[in-house]
Amino acid sequence: MSDANDKTHLVDRITGHRRMRRLRKADWTRRLVRENRLTVDDLIWTVFVIPGDNIEEPIPAMPGVMRMSVDRLCEAAKKAADLGIPAIATFPNIEMEKRDMTGSEVLNPDNLINRATRALKKAAPSLGVITDVALDPFTSHGHDGILSGEEIVNDQTVDQICEAAVAQAQAGADIIAPSEMMDGRIGAIRERLDMAGFQDVAIMSYATKFSSGFYGPYREAISTKGLLKGDKASYYVDTANATEALRDAALDVEEGADMLMVKPGLPYLDICWRLKDTFGLPVFAYQVSGEYAMIKMAAERGAIDGDRVMMETLLSFKRAGCDGILTYFAIEAAEKLAKS
Ligand code: PBG
Repeated sequence: MSDANDKTHLVDRITGHRRMRRLRKADWTRRLVRENRLTVDDLIWTVFVIPGDNIEEPIPAMPGVMRMSVDRLCEAAKKAADLGIPAIATFPNIEMEKRDMTGSEVLNPDNLINRATRALKKAAPSLGVITDVALDPFTSHGHDGILSGEEIVNDQTVDQICEAAVAQAQAGADIIAPSEMMDGRIGAIRERLDMAGFQDVAIMSYATKFSSGFYGPYREAISTKGLLKGDKASYYVDTANATEALRDAALDVEEGADMLMVKPGLPYLDICWRLKDTFGLPVFAYQVSGEYAMIKMAAERGAIDGDRVMMETLLSFKRAGCDGILTYFAIEAAEKLAKS
């Protein structure tokens, strides 16, 4: 019953005087109660490497991202290091003539990715180098493993990526990041690296990599788009499954992964949170090519403020418990952070 002398507003009776907006009123209170922050220390820059000298090539599906020859990549890496970016993750686009059924070029100690690592270590010694050991850039069919008929053969693929991991460590890679989702790969790579004396090379497992449509632009970037027949559903995690993703990650933790990654990022924030909560290991999200392209293209068409959405998505990974983000936005975000 309302009383004419009662000066309280109806909403006060409803809120019980609890008003969330008190602390939202001013910039200083908002800063004071802010729970998560993105810093340059959270960023891993994902880059595409191509053969040749002095080449930078745009990727139409990823506006603003360039494939770079090793010399150009080194220049860009120095800039990244100067901005304070901790690490770079490299992905090669190798000549078609070098791709074969088993991806044997991955074993070449002097292949594009290993040459890039050596050059990067010289050009920007303070920058961490993360290399992917999957076979997809090296196979003539674009799959991440060795094919027998229609099937990706697990154990033979693991043998091959173990050797590739050693070659990458010899070239100077600091972190090996297997992305092909074969069973038993983390333990096998750990053992093989240790045997070769690389106890201090870490493993960032693409622990939960989903069979996602968001990798489209990446396939264009490394030229596997036309090669790939079928999809990767027989080895990546079904996009509908969360508990299976957790079980897969648990195996990687048991086998000795130092860090876990979730890929793609934004559609799988629930997985980021659950991995962090369950294992307490460092967790990274990979904001993949399709996520990048969506933001860039929507911004180009004037639908969203691209910079703002870039920062919002990067921060959302922190809120979801991630320790960092692999992202094509690293340079842009670092520059923005340096100004703020
Ligand atoms: C596969 C690999 C993929 C990406 C990086 N390594 C996915 C795929 O080709 O199926 C995707 C990264 C991106 O989309 O940005 N080893």
